[in-house]
Amino acid sequence: MSKWDHLWINARLATMRDGAGPYGAIEDAALADKGGRIAFAGRMSDLPGEPSNLATRVMDAQNQWITPGLIDCHTHLVFAGNRSEEFEMRLAGKSYEAIAKAGGGIMSTVRATRAASEDELYAQSLSRLHGLLKGGVTTVEIKSGYGLDEATELRMLRVARKLGQQTGLRVRTTYLGLHALPPEYASKRADFVNLMSGPVLRAIADEGLADAVDAYLEGIAFTAAEVERFFAAAAALGLPAKLHADQLSDTNGAALAAKFRALSADHIEYSDPAGIAAMAQAGTVAVLLPGAFFVLRETRKPPVDLLRRHGVPIAVATDCNPGTSPVVSLPTTMSMACTLFGLTPEEVLAGVTRNAARALGLKDETGTLEVGKAADYVVWPITRPAELCYWIGTLNPSAVACSAALAAANASTPA
Ligand code: NIG
Ligand code: FE
Repeated sequence: MSKWDHLWINARLATMRDGAGPYGAIEDAALADKGGRIAFAGRMSDLPGEPSNLATRVMDAQNQWITPGLIDCHTHLVFAGNRSEEFEMRLAGKSYEAIAKAGGGIMSTVRATRAASEDELYAQSLSRLHGLLKGGVTTVEIKSGYGLDEATELRMLRVARKLGQQTGLRVRTTYLGLHALPPEYASKRADFVNLMSGPVLRAIADEGLADAVDAYLEGIAFTAAEVERFFAAAAALGLPAKLHADQLSDTNGAALAAKFRALSADHIEYSDPAGIAAMAQAGTVAVLLPGAFFVLRETRKPPVDLLRRHGVPIAVATDCNPGTSPVVSLPTTMSMACTLFGLTPEEVLAGVTRNAARALGLKDETGTLEVGKAADYVVWPITRPAELCYWIGTLNPSAVACSAALAAANASTPA
């Protein structure tokens, strides 16, 4: 047998395998990888020989916990500028909707992003990506949606792809074509929806710049009919849907997401029981975003008990964006998901691993520690997995492995 590349011994594994008991935990465990895939995840006593004979590099985890690499499955990480003035306006009593209606909100970031060069956009976004990486993230979803014209939407998605190539993180890109109606289309809504569902979508698909599409279904954004038109066009090109749904009001977003067998319906604070049942039927993941709930001082919580009762997979993400969730730490968000939404630490860890992978269409690739999956894992200096949700702003991984980095390195090394 040729040797494994790395072997961690004396570890405790939170494999997060479904149905394998709390955290899918294995004590007195070892984890090995070879060629960027997990080659062993089990008990030390089941190792097929002496560690030094088995792997090129043997590391002693000294009883630390190893989890799957964390997955942030909903971010708007690529943008220019910031919205700290709006933060102050909200503290002074103005609502998010009122600021948006007055031309601020998403449109203020659209103006800054349109004005930024690709290099500026890359540099500003890279520092945020480093923030996520420090928290143990190995896979991140990045949405467009601050361009709302062809050139800027494409530029955002190119920057997102380049961030993945250069940092070695696994980046999944989402074309958020229907995010806000730009003022130049104020009296031509249908033209804007047609543009985003037609020429811009095709240009993005032609360049392979998006792995999925997303839309913002809300009173201050787009209607169900507009979103359906956009999703149908994407489906015709083989692109799966995700939806910002029922965040500020009940717009039947959960049901619409289910109708299109969307990968996920995100936010869903106001979703009703019928919508949640439909999501369960369709296999649509519920992505909960406590950062936005916290920043907007919302009071309506997502229907966690209903999700549990229907067995809808729950994911948790930062929603990193300049308006409603200027958060670049997934562990901090995990703490919020427990304290604000009442999820258990185990549910939250599943929400940033196994279920987050599913929300990105990556369930066979990453999200659990299982032989054959990508070698994405994090070693944590903790004595219990719940510590991952308990500490705020202080916990750093001891080691992070991301197989996408290996793939990127191989791609750039001449054969
Ligand atoms: O997920 N809801 C729409 N999109 C973002 C907010 C974007 C912004 O305000 O810039 C969200 O909360
Ligand atoms: Fe969002």
